[in-house]
Amino acid sequence: MLPAPLPRPEPISNAEYRARREALMSQLPADSAVLLPGAGMVTRSRDSDYPFRQNSDLHYLTGFAEPDALLLLLPGRSEGESVLFCQDRDPSLEAWNGIRLGAEGVVREHGVDQSFENAERDERLEALLDGRTGLYLMLGDAEAMALADDIRGRLASRARRGARPPQRYIDLAPLLHEMRLIKSEGELALMRHAARISAMAHRRAMLAARPGLAEYHLQAELEHEFRWHGSSGPAYASIVGGGANACVLHYIENNAPLRDGELVLIDAGAEFDLYAGDITRTFPVAGRFSDAQRDLYEVVLTAQQQAVAAVRPGVTLAELHEGVVRDLTAGLIRLGLLAGDIEARIEDESYKRFYLHSTSHWLGLDVHDVGDYRTEGKPRPLVPGMVLTVEPGLYVPDAEDIAQPYRGIGIRIEDDVVVTAEGHEVLTDGVPKQVAEIEALMVNE
Ligand code: GLY
Ligand code: MN
Ligand code: MN
Repeated sequence: MLPAPLPRPEPISNAEYRARREALMSQLPADSAVLLPGAGMVTRSRDSDYPFRQNSDLHYLTGFAEPDALLLLLPGRSEGESVLFCQDRDPSLEAWNGIRLGAEGVVREHGVDQSFENAERDERLEALLDGRTGLYLMLGDAEAMALADDIRGRLASRARRGARPPQRYIDLAPLLHEMRLIKSEGELALMRHAARISAMAHRRAMLAARPGLAEYHLQAELEHEFRWHGSSGPAYASIVGGGANACVLHYIENNAPLRDGELVLIDAGAEFDLYAGDITRTFPVAGRFSDAQRDLYEVVLTAQQQAVAAVRPGVTLAELHEGVVRDLTAGLIRLGLLAGDIEARIEDESYKRFYLHSTSHWLGLDVHDVGDYRTEGKPRPLVPGMVLTVEPGLYVPDAEDIAQPYRGIGIRIEDDVVVTAEGHEVLTDGVPKQVAEIEALMVNE
């Protein structure tokens, strides 16, 4: 029997999108403007495109899901502070590609103050930006910069007739990304859902795994579960690495056979309403850990659990990482993969042969989400509403100087964690990570 689809959480309301725009504008000078283009369609080959995915920043401020949009924020403008440009209505194209809301529909459905179709864009932009001294935009976005340069050039060419082009560009990223870093209750509900779907998908892959399948069979199980529950699909390219493929951090070929006696590492997460889940589990293809696999797994698991337990306001990601490095290094020494004293091995960084990535990143509309990791020159303390991953791993090279049973084993365990006033909430505990739980699920069910 097919599983019942999960009930969908509430989407973000227009009132919340408006409140975000107002919160951003409240931080800007009165004579400034924000210029933020959305994503366009991207050609996959010839006349077929990649599925459309809205730019995360434009989505965060509008919820608008069509390509080729442009948001202008004009603090203090009496005819309306939020202006959203959209695709032109075009009945013949809409017959092929679906309804476009058009300017009227955008105001009606999204609650922005004004909307114009793109046919009017360049002329309108000139008028709307005339006299706005500072222009906030993503300085790293070549399209936004080219558009701003073009408008500025056209206003400058009319300067003798009184036009006043923007005088300077200011990076929008720090202000907007600081807002995105702290998730609202509405965002957390969507992230819980993305995490829940992701966890169900990992369980499904564990249940399906057996020697003789290929990595892509598990990818198929995962991605079926994502879509079944209304996710748009993977939040990033799913990683399914059997055996030593687990040691390739961004392994996405997923074409190799799954072999008896080996582990498989799955790093995959569902995207739901543009929010990412991001889970890694590592488990035996045939459902039972060997002694060496279990020993190494327990080292990673202990480090991961300690780090998750440490998440609370005031702690920094650097501190979580230091704790993980200490736990992993102690484990590597205990298993004979490193020799000598723990302080010396941390100091000379020899653990980096086995653990070369960091322990955490922010999670949200982007899998590696936005927001500064340091403030005032120091790692920033966590505050409630931040969402992070905790994902230590060990990747043992297949090398002559490594004891045989450990060669080529790659293990990572990753959960998604919200910082709360009291400490933390783990979003991804719907999929087991204890050895006994994994073995019980895989062997008995
Ligand atoms: N899947 C990407 C990451 O875990 O950071
Ligand atoms: Mn991941
Ligand atoms: Mn991650």
